[in-house]
Amino acid sequence: MLALTMLPEGNAMAQTPIIIKFSHVVANDTPKGKAALRFKELAEKATKGRVKVEIYPNSTLYKDKEELEALQLGAVQMLAPSLAKFAPLGVKEFEVFDLPYIFPSLAVVYRVTQGQIGKNLFSKLESKGITGLAYWDNGFKVMSANRPLHMPADFKGLKMRIQSSKVLDLQMRALGANPQVLGFSEVYQALQTGAVDGTENPPSNLYTQKMYEVQKDITLSNHGYLGYAVIVNKKFWDGLPWDIRSALTQAMEEATQYANKIAQQENDAGLAGIKKTGKTTIYRLTDKETAAWRAALLPVRTQMEGRIGKDLIDAVNRESAALGYK
Ligand code: LMR
Repeated sequence: MLALTMLPEGNAMAQTPIIIKFSHVVANDTPKGKAALRFKELAEKATKGRVKVEIYPNSTLYKDKEELEALQLGAVQMLAPSLAKFAPLGVKEFEVFDLPYIFPSLAVVYRVTQGQIGKNLFSKLESKGITGLAYWDNGFKVMSANRPLHMPADFKGLKMRIQSSKVLDLQMRALGANPQVLGFSEVYQALQTGAVDGTENPPSNLYTQKMYEVQKDITLSNHGYLGYAVIVNKKFWDGLPWDIRSALTQAMEEATQYANKIAQQENDAGLAGIKKTGKTTIYRLTDKETAAWRAALLPVRTQMEGRIGKDLIDAVNRESAALGYK
């Protein structure tokens, strides 16, 4: 659709729209997928068609490995990668979000992402040619495999797929498993062929990628958090007309509120969908089992201080304490 710019004498002059290619790796009917579509709707409406957002879901344009480089090259203008995928950019601090049990609730997540810590992390992207616009929620992760995962000992020897994060690598080793970094688009086939035995994700991702077809067991561990940073190519963003940038900022704010509003319900629906297939046994840990998981995983936090920064970890813990969590 061509945007029309009204000239002084009232004649309309057709203007080619500014194109935002928004690439991501999940299905449309996920928290991130739906939020991206909502941003498209809001952005095109707010700019009266002067901006056109092209959404490329499910790794159809770029896969995990390629997308950040494509953004830096300007081949794509917007991404929303998992916060576990920023270390390859040289910003290891984002892996604070991957620490097991670092967030006792979503309220603490929002204090971090919507406060000074979130801003400070975004400032580290600027030197990489990237501007951070927002943080979108997905939710707490569950573990899946083809054997029951009740106690840490059940992970022994399992090849567990992880995102490209050293914290997640150590997390799986702390459970006695062998971590394997794979792009999200490769996970289903790797599980199907046995190249890996299990994985972790919020239920919405497991469901929409049909992983219940290749995973007999899910444990509702909620052992870690998965969220996103919505990021743009800095040169593109700074080069926009100020009124367009302002309209897109407002559209992103509304899309972020929407993303965080629907995330939990999308994950609840994903879990219900998995249950309905009858293909996967869903196990809820007992308090005793949760205590054993925490005992095995909490040391990851201190072991990662050198990589992430003790100050940053302490700052996140202070946000928990501010809400009364020990
Ligand atoms: C994963 O790779 O497991 C997730 O980051 C996919 C996503 O973007 O939710």
